[in-house]
Amino acid sequence: MSTEAPNNKSLTGYYRWHARIYDLTRWAFLFGRHKIIRQAAALAGEPGRVLEIGCGTGKNLVHLAEAFPKAQITGLDLSADMLERARPKVAKYGERVKLMHQAYEGPVGGEAKFDLIVFSYSLTMINPGYDEVLRQCQKDLSERGMVAVVDFHESRWRWFQRWMGVNHVRMEGQVLDCLRHHFQPLVCQVHHGYGDLWRYVMFLGRKAG
Ligand SMILES: C[S@@+](CC[C@H](N)C(=O)[O-])C[C@H]1O[C@@H](n2cnc3c(N)ncnc32)[C@H](O)[C@@H]1O
Repeated sequence: MSTEAPNNKSLTGYYRWHARIYDLTRWAFLFGRHKIIRQAAALAGEPGRVLEIGCGTGKNLVHLAEAFPKAQITGLDLSADMLERARPKVAKYGERVKLMHQAYEGPVGGEAKFDLIVFSYSLTMINPGYDEVLRQCQKDLSERGMVAVVDFHESRWRWFQRWMGVNHVRMEGQVLDCLRHHFQPLVCQVHHGYGDLWRYVMFLGRKAG
């Protein structure tokens, strides 16, 4: 019997097919991905170690590797199909960019903490569990470490929320509430996608307390 959590299992199945069309389609609605990295670069100085949780096909890993040329970068994802697409993109960076195939359930850095942890459209897909993931990732952050998040926020259209639900995305404002609870905001912006069809959030923060 599989011990994989039900949500992880259904995401693995979802991306088995969607990995093939991911890069061709997602530019049209996953807004703000490059911008959040530029904003992190402006605020994070020179992070030594960077982690992206839910790195998918690796688009952000390339931007991170360019933005932080001295950093060790790790991309983690539960979908082998998505990581297969990421691998050729990051090959030119050699050992500097590492891929990890697993669901994020707790710290992965051991003693070596990360100075920047990126979530790009992954937290709204972790249902249940986004709150626990944000709690756990604080243990992976260095003292002055920072999180950078871009993700769906909410939509006032029920039919659109339902459609996103079919695609494993929960967009009821839950991620921003949770981010504000766990981190001190440095940047917190809500933007509109296609007029008022949906809103998405860009958040940069440090550990609270
Ligand atoms: C919408 S994609 C975003 C990919 C990439 N970050 C981007 O911006 O293009 C969400 C990714 O998060 C991954 N993911 C979802 N839940 C995860 C978890 N608990 N641990 C690791 N990866 C997860 C999925 O497999 C998928 O590749």
